[in-house]
This record gives sequence, C-alpha cells and structure tokens, in this order.
Amino acid sequence: MTATWDTARLVEQDIAHMLHPVTNLHRHRQSGPLVIVRGEGSTVWDSDGKAYIDGFAGLWNVNVGHGRRELAEVAREQMARLAFQPTFFGLATPPAIELATKLAAMIPGPINHFQFTSGGAESNETALKIARYYWALGGQPDKVKIISRKMAYHGIAMGALAATGLPAYWQDFGPLTPGFVHINAPHAYRLGEGLSEAEFVSKLVEELEATIAREGADQIAAFIGEPVQGAGGVVPPPQSYWAAVSEVLKRHDILLIADEVITGFGRTGTMFGVQQYDVQPDIVSLAKGITSGYIPLGAVGVTDAINDRLSEPDRLFMHGFTYSGHPVACAVGLRNVAIVEDEELPANAAIRGEQLLAGLHDLGNHPNVGNVRGKGLMAIIEVVADRGTKEAFVAADGVGAKLQAATRARGLIVRCNDTGIAISPPLVITEREVDTLVNGIGEALREVLGA
Ligand SMILES: Cc1ncc(COP(=O)(O)O)c(C=O)c1O
Repeated sequence: MTATWDTARLVEQDIAHMLHPVTNLHRHRQSGPLVIVRGEGSTVWDSDGKAYIDGFAGLWNVNVGHGRRELAEVAREQMARLAFQPTFFGLATPPAIELATKLAAMIPGPINHFQFTSGGAESNETALKIARYYWALGGQPDKVKIISRKMAYHGIAMGALAATGLPAYWQDFGPLTPGFVHINAPHAYRLGEGLSEAEFVSKLVEELEATIAREGADQIAAFIGEPVQGAGGVVPPPQSYWAAVSEVLKRHDILLIADEVITGFGRTGTMFGVQQYDVQPDIVSLAKGITSGYIPLGAVGVTDAINDRLSEPDRLFMHGFTYSGHPVACAVGLRNVAIVEDEELPANAAIRGEQLLAGLHDLGNHPNVGNVRGKGLMAIIEVVADRGTKEAFVAADGVGAKLQAATRARGLIVRCNDTGIAISPPLVITEREVDTLVNGIGEALREVLGA
C-alpha cells in the first residue's frame, strides 16, 4: 500500500510548529523541510515520491538499512508483552539483561557491565559521571577534569556539550560546565603538514603530556575521544595515535572513554572503532548503530575494575534515566546487533568504504578539494577556497547550502556545509549505489564550484 502525502500541508505545518535542531531557522522559514516518508535498504523516498540514496544513513546511524520488517515485528511483540518497566531499584526485563550480556561478549577486553540510555549525549553524560564517581569512591574526589579534543562531537546536552570541541555549538549557551580542557585533534591535513606520522604523533603526545602537567594528573578523571572523529569533520587519526595516547593516560592514571556512538557496530570496517587501533578503553559510550535508529537507545559499558568499585556496600548508584534499559528498545537492539553480525556488515563497510574512498580520491583533482579522508563507511571531502593556503570558504559564499541543493537535486542525501561533504551511508550499501553516490557528488561539486 502506498500512502499519498499532502506535501504542501506538511511543509506549512512544519514551518508553523517545528523547531529543528542544527538548522538555520531563519532560512528554514522559506525553504521548509524535505519530508521523508519511506525507506528500503539505502534508499529513502520523499513525500512527492522522489527517491534518494541515504548517503548519511539518517544521522550516521541506520547501519542495517531501512525497511527491516523483523525489527518492527520484535518491537510489536515486546510492546504487546510488556511495553515498559524501568531498571531503577533493581528491576529488570529480559531484553535489557540479554542485550547487556550480548554487548559484554562483543566488546573487546574486560568491558562487561552496561547501563542503558536513550542516545549518545546521555551515554556520554553517564560515562563522564561514572569517571568522576570512580575516582571519588577511590578516595580521589579532586580527579574531576576531563580532557577532550577540538573538533570532537560528544552530543549537546549540558555536560556532553562541554566535552564537544566545536565552538559553534557553545555560542550563547554558556556558561559551559567547568572542568573540561580541549587539546588538538589528530588532524594531519591541518596540523601535521611536513611531518612524518611518527613526528605528528609525537607532537600530539607532547601536547597531551604538557596539558596533564599543567592541569595536574591528580585532578584529571578521564580523556574522552571518538576513535575516528565524526561530526566535527571525519578525522581518522594516524595509525599509531591511540596506542601512544593510551600509554600516556595509563602512566598518569587517567581513564580512557571511547565514544563509539558513530563508530560502534561496524561503521569503520570493524565491529568497534577501537579495534582499528588496538586500544583498550576503560569506558565505552554507544548509541546510534545499536538499534540502527529504529528506536532510540544508547549504552555505556565499563570494565570489571570500575564495576567493582561502583558496587560500594553502603551507596546507591545515583545515576540513570527513566528509559535506561527500555525493554522495547533493548529487544530491537538485540535483533539489530544480530543482523549486523549475521550479515557481516563490518566487512561490507570495509569493502564499500575502500570503494567510496577511492572514488572520492578521484574527485580530489578538483581545485577546491583540499583533502579527502575516511575510514570504512565514514568519509569527507573537505572543500577549500584556496588549495595552496587551505583557506576555508566563508559563510557568505553559501557553499554548503549550494552543495546541499545540488546533491539533493541528484537524489542524494549527504551532509553538506561550508567545509565540505560528509558521507556515511548504511552499511548495506551496494557497489552500484556507492558509484551513484560518488558520481553525483562529483557532478554537484562541479556544478557549484565550477571546473
Ligand atoms: C560521537 C558522538 N557522540 C555523541 C553523539 C550524540 O548523540 P545524540 O545526538 O544521540 O545525543 C553523537 C551524535 O552525532 C556523536 O556523533
């Protein structure tokens, strides 16, 4: 059955009543929304019946692709059986217990204990609070500072916002939560010019050491980082970066929180991003791909050692959310994770990721393409006004909006802004769809920037 939609009415009501995140609300009053009504695999359709390749997998999250009826069926069954019980006060439901057990088996190392959330920011709030609580219970209540990185995106709730290293998200929402320190991103194109990989990593590690010396190791609870930075600009670090960072953190007794909200569940070509770099975090934040966006869910995993300390005889663990361990979300998560494993989607992400990156590199001859980079199925074309100086376009050039219009006209949904085009399709994307995506992006670049 194909529903028909009254696009004009939907657009009018959206403009009248919706408050869109990370959107120019002034321009949106003129342009209105693109209303998406249906999806199947890597394709979505708008309310006028036009098809698009969902080159952003929703918001980096629809890993198993759209239209999976079995996920709808699992949700229906769980809702009919038991729609809700919390995990507060020692209550539990089978889906939450089973998903925590499954995650413990999947995630490398001694990360065996999970609290669930409803999304990435809540996961990071939880991770940051656990890090502080861990040190307080160990008799070091002054170990509260958090080291994060520029260009990091950890969500935009109040605590996560302070970890996020993108000033555009801070503007006029201050004061920020205190205690957060930002160091440089491992962004070789901008910061490593003329340096070998080893020299660049040494430079970054020196900055980390200097930051720890300045702030005091006895006052730093944790370092939080995405294995591959995503929303801030897709920055795969040098291969030896994480081992070097982790060695410094261990030496100074600072916990490592891996924000796997985008990189978890296959996106980089391995099940988790940390597996690309052979690094063992103490705490892991998850969301997005845990349910492929079919229903909101996140999780935070901690090691046996952290769990032991949290299990204090005379204390309640005073943290959690109403929907921590929502049974419907966990049931969907459990089945979604089984699909990711059974269909070997991390392997497909690795293969299609190579194809995508090779195709994007071919577009690198364009005079306004400054840099192409990625890992698995997360990639970016960074556009610049001047390739020699790497000078970025200014907002008044309107490059992001033009690229968005040009890609959408070609039936592609990708994330366009003034610094370039980010791509992160479903992990089920086919060879032909990757070709279509790359060709369309090339045409859009030439339409907007000439050549
Ligand atoms: C790495 C990372 N962490 C956290 C978040 C925040 O997730 P949410 O929007 O679900 O709060 C995001 C969202 O894009 C993310 O990319």
